[in-house]
Amino acid sequence: MLNILSYPEIKFPENFLWGSATAAHQIEGDDIHSREWHQQMARPFMEKSGKACDGYRLYKEDIELLKQLGHKAYRLSIPWSRIEPSEGDFNREATEHYIDLLRRLKEAGIQSFVTLLHGSSPEWFAQRGGLLKRENFHFFERYVQFMVQAIHPYVDFWLVINEFNIGGGRSDEDYRAFRANSLIAHARGYQIIKSMSSAPVSSAHALRHCQPANPFDKFDRIFSDLDDWKVNEFFFHAIRTGEIVLPYMDAEYVPEIKNSVDFWAVNYYCRNLISARKQNADSIRYTPTHQKMIDMDFYLEEFFPEGLLTGLLRLNDKPVYITENGLACDDDRWRIIKLVQDLAAMNDAIRQGVDVRGYLHWSLMDNYEWYTFKPRFGLVHVDFKTFERTPKPSAWFYKELIEANGFNPALIKKHLPDLPEFKLYSSRS
Ligand code: BGC
Repeated sequence: MLNILSYPEIKFPENFLWGSATAAHQIEGDDIHSREWHQQMARPFMEKSGKACDGYRLYKEDIELLKQLGHKAYRLSIPWSRIEPSEGDFNREATEHYIDLLRRLKEAGIQSFVTLLHGSSPEWFAQRGGLLKRENFHFFERYVQFMVQAIHPYVDFWLVINEFNIGGGRSDEDYRAFRANSLIAHARGYQIIKSMSSAPVSSAHALRHCQPANPFDKFDRIFSDLDDWKVNEFFFHAIRTGEIVLPYMDAEYVPEIKNSVDFWAVNYYCRNLISARKQNADSIRYTPTHQKMIDMDFYLEEFFPEGLLTGLLRLNDKPVYITENGLACDDDRWRIIKLVQDLAAMNDAIRQGVDVRGYLHWSLMDNYEWYTFKPRFGLVHVDFKTFERTPKPSAWFYKELIEANGFNPALIKKHLPDLPEFKLYSSRS
């Protein structure tokens, strides 16, 4: 893995779209009407998102930052909780804020990817059961209608929902209901957007490479296939056919789901390493095991480019955009290594015929990681007290990579004069 300079010169297709991604709750601060904010208040073990990166106030500066770093595209999310803080009460001022943000991005020549639901939702909606209940769909549709009407002239790509394929409560019943319902909500969102906008639409899929812990063990293999079905295949299958098939659930045919993405939006971080001999077989991941990149137990510190390649090879029937990919690390040199490895895998997929058209790195800046500030995913360092933003070496590497539309050993060496060391530690069980 550390033979990072052995990569050949790599070029990407002309007009390849390079950029970065964030989500509102994680950078904006003061998302006080969201379910997530309420949970943080109620659970002492969770760090509070508080002001996060103070991004709601500093959005103009952040657009300057994107320009300075040469990003051509930016993915952001609209926090429904700010737009409709209480049921039926739409906030004009907040709406104007996003219109202004998106207008400024357009003026800066930066293409926007807008996610309408990313990891947080209004407290009032969550109290009603959120997307677990189909009778709540109309609230979501009303919000989508309102928001799309307001911002559609400025949006280049739409993402209705982020990563519902890995969400949905603890019980088997809840995760099935959540994933099936989210597919339908996604499809309704798709139709609403299509009635007003000609920009392409999708929902971001968390691609997890599911792999048996022991490939020679029959039980591990069966469980790994099952996990792939629950996480990946049900989504691809539903979009291709309109049929929702999940384990232990009567299949459902919902015609409006069929073809309700114009492109595959792929978020890729890590694999699920499946052991049939663990109670939570499908939640045992390849942990940071033998590399420790931050001072906590965190499962997204993964180097596994093969998972991205094999995942992309399953998606050769539509254009693809990587809408998230990144690494939590304190030593920024790992981020450069991660970029090189995963971008090489993505390039391999392109050479094998997959129509990958863009890549958005997670994340533009360090931010709030849902319950903690510790994992730093940013190309840009954020001081969470002063909110000062400072680009890391990886941000300059990425900038030159964007300018060259590729990379070669000289560019890697320029930004990675020496290699980081492995720190070993015992994995969690
Ligand atoms: C989510 C982001 C998150 C990132 C890193 C993705 O699953 O969309 O919100 O911060 O992973 O954990």
